[in-house]
Amino acid sequence: VVGRTRINPISSNRFRSVMITTAHRLRQLPSRRKAVASDDDHLILPDQDFSQQAHIPSFQKYQEMYKRSIQDPAGFWSQMASHFYWKKKWGQQVYSQNLDITKGNINIEWFKGGITNICYNCLDRNIESGNGEKIAIHWEGNEPGFDDSLTYNQLLERVCQLANCLKENGVKKGDSVIIYLPMLMELPISMLACARIGAVHSVVFAGFSAESLEQRIIDCKPKIVITCNAVKRGTKVINLKDIVDSALSGSSQNGIHVGVCLTYANESAMKREVTKWQKERDIWWQDAVPKYSTKCDVEWVDGEDPLFLLYTSGSTGKPKGVLHTTGGYMIYTAATFKYAFDYKPSDIYWCTADCGWITGHSYVSYGPLLNGATVVVYEGVPNYPDPGRCWDIVDKYKVTIFYTAPTLVRSLMRDGNEHVTRYSRKSLRVLGSVGEPINPTAWRWFFNVVGDARCPISDTWWQTETGGFMITPLPGAWPQKPGSATFPFFGVQPVIVDEKGKEMEGECSGYLCVKNSWPGAFRTLFGDHERYETTYFSAFPGYYFSGDGCRRDKDGYHWLTGRVDDVINVSGHRIGTAEVESALVSHPKCAEAAVVGVEHEVKGQCIYAFVTPVKGVTYSEDLKKSLVLSVRTNIGAFAAPDKIHWAPGLPKTRSGKIMRRILRKIASRQLDELGDTSTLADPSVVDQLIALADS
Ligand code: WTA
Repeated sequence: VVGRTRINPISSNRFRSVMITTAHRLRQLPSRRKAVASDDDHLILPDQDFSQQAHIPSFQKYQEMYKRSIQDPAGFWSQMASHFYWKKKWGQQVYSQNLDITKGNINIEWFKGGITNICYNCLDRNIESGNGEKIAIHWEGNEPGFDDSLTYNQLLERVCQLANCLKENGVKKGDSVIIYLPMLMELPISMLACARIGAVHSVVFAGFSAESLEQRIIDCKPKIVITCNAVKRGTKVINLKDIVDSALSGSSQNGIHVGVCLTYANESAMKREVTKWQKERDIWWQDAVPKYSTKCDVEWVDGEDPLFLLYTSGSTGKPKGVLHTTGGYMIYTAATFKYAFDYKPSDIYWCTADCGWITGHSYVSYGPLLNGATVVVYEGVPNYPDPGRCWDIVDKYKVTIFYTAPTLVRSLMRDGNEHVTRYSRKSLRVLGSVGEPINPTAWRWFFNVVGDARCPISDTWWQTETGGFMITPLPGAWPQKPGSATFPFFGVQPVIVDEKGKEMEGECSGYLCVKNSWPGAFRTLFGDHERYETTYFSAFPGYYFSGDGCRRDKDGYHWLTGRVDDVINVSGHRIGTAEVESALVSHPKCAEAAVVGVEHEVKGQCIYAFVTPVKGVTYSEDLKKSLVLSVRTNIGAFAAPDKIHWAPGLPKTRSGKIMRRILRKIASRQLDELGDTSTLADPSVVDQLIALADS
């Protein structure tokens, strides 16, 4: 089972990057230098017993299906779609697309004319097929021993009550609803209730600040905001209602008045009585929702009607509202979930992601529920009350599929094996990873220590924009290589292009693009189709450009090498450098700021900020703290810079462009690799920066 070759752990920075400049500000092209040979050659063969029971038992079977999915996408995806309920079948044309900006507007449609509802397919359909009494959600609270569960029948009743309540409060098909909730059961319930009545949900991760929430409220103008009074994460109580109050008052000042704030009283974190209240606007969930009928008719929608908006960071400007529609997203999340995790009805599935991110949309809520799965939803943090909590939860619910992020793997690895090995973990059969490249060392620890060298790891590469998995192992179907996401999912045609946009064959390294659409692809950026076209389809005409670098090895395995634009990936969270910079310069004592990502042992990358204070201001620790606070209040704690580096000046070209390549080298202390600094307007700033490195 374990690899053919034994190799030494390889450092995660084996892909050194070189700077290239194009009109699209692409940052780094992964080095053409091959990874250490043993890395590419280290195969972990699938266990025969596992393969025999798997949906896709061999590479040959995969190839047959993959070939068909590429040659006949319409036939392939129609067959996948036929497992679901359609009130009316889609039109003659299963899909239509234009991904080539030189040929007109970008346009992607799947299952248009088909009439369906994703909530119906998640709940009613599974109940009708006899699974009403199956557990849909096991909810585990922050405090051990504090838990709850809902069967599919019960979940449907809860969803219907909320759906009726939303309708009564004026929410109609096509209206948007902002959901700002922690990982309570009420979060997936809220998403499903919106979907049931054709409303477009926009979940905002409950770690975002009031200002970020306000920005999103102003952008999508929701009819209602759903939140709770507070949440306890670890030992910390966070008053979410205060944050929402501040966001709503801010949006009101900008002319966007939200009439209703439906607030769940999370009394384990905070008593109702101490929650600030605006009588004319705020409604307690527990007072309102249970009064409604547990039945609610479905609003039937078109396959191309919007399902949700999810804001994500890009290299420039304000967050982008990624829009997903109903039919294609439904089929795609369901199929990817089933195959990439080899899901069987007897599985108990736990994904540690928060529903505030795309992973929580596609693989906490929709994908698993569409498959009728039992899902564990965990409210707390993974190392509370101690670093064994995850395995305690795995043993408690007999979790069989465990899906998490490399940052968590690395942090648990650092805490020591004893926290893992004192739990049984016998139930586990498939592991998953998402959010950033998983370095081979962490991969091996996950495989050997957590999975006892029995469980295949699905390292799933995908994005908010892609809706579902794009490149991922199918467990049991082929040998794994630690750190490689391996091969494309059905229907996905990844291509690696050079800086001129030329598709490369065989062993190569470059920019990762996708040729042709897939059902889960996003359709636009909310309210800004032009930005959609320029951000994703103009860098390399004819392709969707992911923003990631990728290498393909001699065996055709894909190795993701990280972002090539100005997006930083901190603990699997996408953060735009421009957003952090604008938060810093909003501080009255900050004249200028430049932010870069630096490798970090646990977080993958961390945020490193160069700051030029306004004239006359002296450097101080207090000022550093208040600059960091500025980012926390503008964006959220998760985007706080790890380091503020004082910069009397920033390295700029004569035309005024900041040379981030140099900043990156200074930040990572690769001072002998600064390269040519002679083109700088003032080369002496580099020495000044180096001198201030540790102040
Ligand atoms: C990164 C999260 C390598 C990548 C689902 C991508 C990964 C960004 C992987 C999207 C992986 C995600 N291997 N890199 N398995 N999964 N990424 O939109 O840089 O929050 O572009 O979606 O995360 O982040 P997003």
